[in-house]
This record gives sequence, C-alpha cells and structure tokens, in this order.
Amino acid sequence: MKTIIEPFRIKSVEPIRMTTVEEREQLIRAADYNVFSLKSEDVIIDLLTDSGTSAMSAGQWSMLMRGDESYAGSPSFYRFEEAVRELMPFKHIIPTHQGRAAEHILTAIVAGDSGHGKIIPNNTHFDTTRANFENAGITALDLVVEEGLDPAFEHPFKGNMDLQRLEQLLEKEADNIPLVELTITNNAGGGQPVSMENIRETKALCERYGKPLYIDSARFAENAYFIKRREPGYQDSSIPDIVREMYSYADGMTMSGKKDTFANMGGWLALNDDTWAEQARTHLIMTEGFPTYGGMSGRDMECLAAGLKEIVEEDYLHYRIRSIEYINEKLDALGVPVVKPAGGHAVFIDARAMLPHIPPLQYPGQALSVAMYVTGGIRAAEIGSFMFGRQPDGSEAPAGMDLVRLAMPRRVYTQSHGDYIVECLEEIYGRRDELKGLEITWEPPSLRHFTARLHPLGCALAA
Ligand code: F0G
Repeated sequence: MKTIIEPFRIKSVEPIRMTTVEEREQLIRAADYNVFSLKSEDVIIDLLTDSGTSAMSAGQWSMLMRGDESYAGSPSFYRFEEAVRELMPFKHIIPTHQGRAAEHILTAIVAGDSGHGKIIPNNTHFDTTRANFENAGITALDLVVEEGLDPAFEHPFKGNMDLQRLEQLLEKEADNIPLVELTITNNAGGGQPVSMENIRETKALCERYGKPLYIDSARFAENAYFIKRREPGYQDSSIPDIVREMYSYADGMTMSGKKDTFANMGGWLALNDDTWAEQARTHLIMTEGFPTYGGMSGRDMECLAAGLKEIVEEDYLHYRIRSIEYINEKLDALGVPVVKPAGGHAVFIDARAMLPHIPPLQYPGQALSVAMYVTGGIRAAEIGSFMFGRQPDGSEAPAGMDLVRLAMPRRVYTQSHGDYIVECLEEIYGRRDELKGLEITWEPPSLRHFTARLHPLGCALAA
C-alpha cells in the first residue's frame, strides 16, 4: 500500500464551532487585526503554532496519574532525566517550564553583569531567543546560508549555518562570543533542517576557537528525519541514532518540550559544563523551582518522558512530514508561493511574493493572515516585518522575508482539514490584488507582534 495514513486512531475529540465570514469580520476588527487577540473558540482551524497544541497519546495521558509531585527527588524527574539522556546524553539536565525559561537562564549565565559587546551567532534566532539575548544587551546574529533566504530555492538543508561567515566572525570577534547556537529545524527560516555535516562542521569551528555549541532543539526529531531522508549515509540509521549523533557535537541544548515531545508544557536546559550548570541551577531555584522539577509538575515530566519515546518513531515522522508536504504541494500547484521544500512543522507562504502590491512595512504577511481568518476561520501567524521589523535602535526595517506560517499541531488535524486549508488559500489567491496592507496603531517596546494593534490601510478608523 502506498497511501500514507495517520498512524493513530482518535479516541477523544474537541468540537469545532463554525462561524460565518460576517461574524469573523466583526471578530477580527474587535481583535485590532491581530490574530493573537482572537479567542480560540472563534477559530475554526488553529495554525497559530505547533507549540503546546499536540494531541497527547493514550500512553501519555496514562502517565498523568504516575506523576509524583514531591518537591525534591521525585521519581518523575528521574524518569524524565533518563528519557532525555537516552537521546541527548548531557551531564546536567535542568527542567524548565518551557523553552524560553531555559533560554532566559542561559542568557543570564552568558551575559554576566552585562551582555553589551557580546555576540551570539545562530543560523536564525527564534523570536524568544533573540529577545532574551537582546534584552541582556547581547547582539543576536543570524548567519543562515544564502539558500535559506530564498523561499523558492530548492535545497535539502536550507537551515544550515553559513560556515564561511561564522569563521570570519569567530576570527574577528572571538573574545566577544560566549557561545555559538544552531536552531534545528530553523523555525524562523521556514522550518528548514540543518544537515549532520553542517552540525559537525559548526562544531569543528567552535572547537578551533574554544567556543561551546548549543542547539536550540524544539524540533530535533523532525530535523533527524530530514537527515535520514536527505543526507547520504543516513538512510539505514535509526532516528534515535541520528539524534544521538547530532547531540554528540553539542555542548548544550535548550528545549521547548511543547513541540517535539507532544507535551502541552515543559522544557529543559542541558549541558556538560559543571560551572555553568551550577549557575543555571541557582537561577532555576530563583525563577523556576527546585532542580528536580524546575518549572514542571511531576505529571508534566512523565508526559515529556513518554513523548520523547513516541516522537522518534519513524511511522509518526513519516506521516508528519508527508502531511505538511501534501498541503505545500497543493498550494504550489495552484501558484501560491510557498517556501520550498516544505518545512518540518509548517507550511510557509511567501506573502511578499504573493502580494507584491503591499510593501513590507505595510505587512503583507499580516494582510494574508487576516484574510485567512476572515475567509476560512484559519488562524496563522505572520513571520516577517511585523514580527521582526522593529530594530533595537528603535527604527523600523523590513525583515529578510515576509512569511505566513501555517504551523500544524501534531496529531490534531486530518487530511480533510488540510484540503479545507488549501481551498481557503485558493479563494484568497484568486482575489489577492484586493488585499490591503495595514498600519500599526499601538505597539509595546518589544515582541510587538503578540499584542500590537493594527488597522487596515484605506479604511476609516472606527471611532
Ligand atoms: N526555540 C524555537 C526554535 C522555538 O520555535 C520556540 C517556540 C522556542 C525556542 C521557545 O520555546 O515556546 O517553549 O518557550 N516557538 C513557538 C512557535 C512559540 O510558535 O514557534 P517555548
């Protein structure tokens, strides 16, 4: 049989409340044209994020009762630690409530009294990673390969680090670089993978300059699957073996357990350096919790431990990647400009190419996101000039790309939901010339895309 099916049955469902175009026009206006301000029950298909939105398995739910909520020394922590070490054999595993808490602790360690003058290179920093570093005065530098910046360009590993630019930077700024980071898969760059060769060579450069390599690991299993499929020499390797090799090149990792462990909450910081680990635990106790639970309850740690075993199953990963490719291929065939090849966790639409009449600083991605909500009740996030346009010096500049991310929650939507998404975009594509840009009427000092208020251009402001 060639047909790839969802490798699970559905035991428990959540009803979706259907709404009309007229209702959604009202709702998005009331949300100031920011989809983050919508109530989730007013959304038909929620592709805002794949983070914390996975459907947990019966196996994971059954672990909830096993969770031991002891303050210190809970067996749930030791099961969690063992499951992490099975794949990522770091010396210290420090539980946090989600990925950004791990990033915050790492930032506190590397920034010390002040991060000013320090630089952390990454293929592409995700928004919370960037915000944590920049908030401490550190410069967050993106050094993804050029192919990764061209949405239509087909390349198997568009998330790779540009090794030449990294070497130049290390040569010039070695004293100011506390660590080098790789984000796998490269979320902000279209969910594109990093090859094993690139991880290995990044590590070799780090070693030459005496710098630790950290991996921002939210979607490590999807990255491992791409290595198996696309990188010569890995076809016969198991996913756990590929994962272990990836981490053999790293000195530490930050993890959002809300993605590739199917958990609704959780994360960790893992590292080998004893001094940094001691500092991290001190920060952990101040901000998260005691080192054997950090930011999690015992049951969260049990769900992570169980999820780590399920996420590296090849049947699951095969279905996962195929279900994203399926939507990507259909949109591509309709002429909708998508990032190619399809990423691991999301379909990314190149809104700048689709809506060339809307300049980047009128946020074509946001215009498309609003249109998707009004047309089909689909919620998807802009990743472009609205998210990244405000510069640390207060000026505004277009982001490298203006994308809209259709992030697919894990094991949640079926193929007919996928067909509905395609149909919605087909309709918008047919009248794309009518879409209008937006202006921001209010924004906070940082991470503006979460709470900013907008208004469509060419429409009178409501009283
Ligand atoms: N790193 C990457 C690559 C991420 O994608 C995220 C979160 C984080 C770190 C932070 O982890 O949410 O557990 O604190 N990304 C989510 C998203 C929010 O929608 O892509 P967190």
